Amino acid sequence: MPESFVNLKRTHYCGQLRAEHSAQPVTVMGWVHRRRDHGGLIFIDLRDREGLLQIAFSPEASTAALEKAHSLRSEFVIAVKGVVKPRPEGTVNPDMPTGEIEVHAQELIVLNESKTPPFDITERKDVAENVRLKYRFLDLRRPSLLNIFMTRHRMCHIIRNYLSTNHFLEVETPFLTKSTPEGARDYLVPSRIEPGSFYALPQSPQLFKQILMVSGFDRYFQIVKCFRDEDLRADRQPEFTQVDMELSFIQEEDIFEILEGMMKILFREILGIEVATPFPQLSYQESMDRFGVDNPDTRFGLELKDLTQILRNSQFKVFASAIEKGGVVKGITVKDAARFSRAELDELVEVTKVYGAQGLVWIRITAEGWQSPVAKFLDEKEKEGIAASLDAAAGDLLLLVADQSFKVACTALGNLRLHLIKKLKLEPSDRFKFTWVTKFPLLEYSPEEKRWAAVHHPFTSPAEDDIPLLESRPGDVRARAYDLVLNGSEIGGGSIRIHRQEVQSQMFNILGIREEDASIKFGFLLDALRFGAPPHGGIAVGLDRLVMLMTGADSIRDVIAFPKTQRASCVMSGAPSPVDPQQLSELHIKIIVPK
Ligand code: AMO
Ligand code: AMP
Repeated sequence: MPESFVNLKRTHYCGQLRAEHSAQPVTVMGWVHRRRDHGGLIFIDLRDREGLLQIAFSPEASTAALEKAHSLRSEFVIAVKGVVKPRPEGTVNPDMPTGEIEVHAQELIVLNESKTPPFDITERKDVAENVRLKYRFLDLRRPSLLNIFMTRHRMCHIIRNYLSTNHFLEVETPFLTKSTPEGARDYLVPSRIEPGSFYALPQSPQLFKQILMVSGFDRYFQIVKCFRDEDLRADRQPEFTQVDMELSFIQEEDIFEILEGMMKILFREILGIEVATPFPQLSYQESMDRFGVDNPDTRFGLELKDLTQILRNSQFKVFASAIEKGGVVKGITVKDAARFSRAELDELVEVTKVYGAQGLVWIRITAEGWQSPVAKFLDEKEKEGIAASLDAAAGDLLLLVADQSFKVACTALGNLRLHLIKKLKLEPSDRFKFTWVTKFPLLEYSPEEKRWAAVHHPFTSPAEDDIPLLESRPGDVRARAYDLVLNGSEIGGGSIRIHRQEVQSQMFNILGIREEDASIKFGFLLDALRFGAPPHGGIAVGLDRLVMLMTGADSIRDVIAFPKTQRASCVMSGAPSPVDPQQLSELHIKIIVPK
């Protein structure tokens, strides 16, 4: 039976007691982690937020407490009054921070009982994730998960301090708002007062932070939830947290410097690692050219090489025709991989197809010569050119993709590169490597929608030199946008913004947003830009992704206390769920159930 908690006061956390506390009377409270019964003697590992502590129940200390300790089961909540004693010779546990001592129990108070947990909290056994998420309150008791949240808390604390020291003001922006386009679907909230009207939950505070610059706040930040209804992946959640910033009267370099300083202090204080600054910069073009993706993991070699010039007049029609249509041939060298079996090569072909390539040419360089389905189509000069460009040696495997689209060829090979890095378990050159990716294209043509779309978002400024190309060659205009990439993961993105109203209107026009629509959707921004908007820009860091990388967590769900599943549901609370007909009628909503 649970006992009264009245008049009990905890003196120490379990995990904090050390040899220096010997002989002190203490009162500790927590959960029964493990119980070991030695007949006349019972040991409990007691667990709280700060760690584990051994409690010894013996007839010498108290027969009443020992008697009671027989009823204890895993995850019971107890309080123990006792005395700290050094552990007897030979029983010290060097793997435990509290391993030199134990508490000899004089009194045991059972504060609450527990059903048998559906999984073992003491061990890092693989438990099905849906079970972990349903019993998230137990899952979060595991020290490995709790540690992640302690680190996350410290990171936020450091970030707040750092930005405050650098003259940033923390300002909250609304959640019940209008759509802010970041390329995903909105989560909508119906209005009760205005039938048929909806708020949108923000995909980011983009418009509000720009308006704060117009208001003269000069430097803003917020550690803020963002909401995006998009397909979920291992590093994506429908609600996630950004460290969001905006600054006035700055250029790209100023933002880079602030972010580099922030990462430096985070890595120093959390991991004891000195990261080198400034971070290297790659243009989008160079990133695609060399790594095939715009979030390059530059800790590995296997760089892409261009073979277009060498293969322009190839007898192999796939190459010649891709090039003739304005495309490219790109290749990579995989050292010592000529030994790959046919089945392994077929698997590589499939990977490139997933990323849109028509096919993949493989060439095994063996002592006997080139083995490849296309070897017979290549003349000596072409072979020499390929071998030189790809630095090929006996034992290597060469992989080539041709496509009429530069982007498709690069993307397919770039993702194949990532697949090979995993498959071959290649060693990274560094544990952490940051890269800025800059000079993204401003616009991308969407064949489905038959219109130009913003690559970052519609408020990003074109490069000054490229403004004259906006109407004539929109695809060639570069943006003043940048991403921060860590170990191949996009952890932040931002841009210098358009601060002149006529350029913003021209941008909406190019994006096919009609003037009336622009004024309905973004009228308040356009209005603000008419009243003395300063030059400004900013960035948002994906906090969850950064925590993931810094704690080595496998999934974004391990760094969010109450995450959603792949189907955007919370299995613990049961959200989303149907609501009362009464609530729906107040909101003027009728449900059409899909067939
Ligand atoms: P962007 O859309 O690039 O920029 O988002 C910034 C960073 O947020 C993280 N992120 C996500 N993390 C988890 N789950 C998601 N669904 C998710 N989506 C994005 C990424 C990304 O780099 N308003 C602009 C910023 C700006 O221009 O200042 C914006 O939101 O790490
Ligand atoms: P096919 O002519 O389709 O039988 O293809 C002959 C070989 O060329 C196969 O090994 C294909 O995988 C490869 N291949 C086809 N299209 C491409 C391409 N665009 N780039 C690289 N290899 C290709």
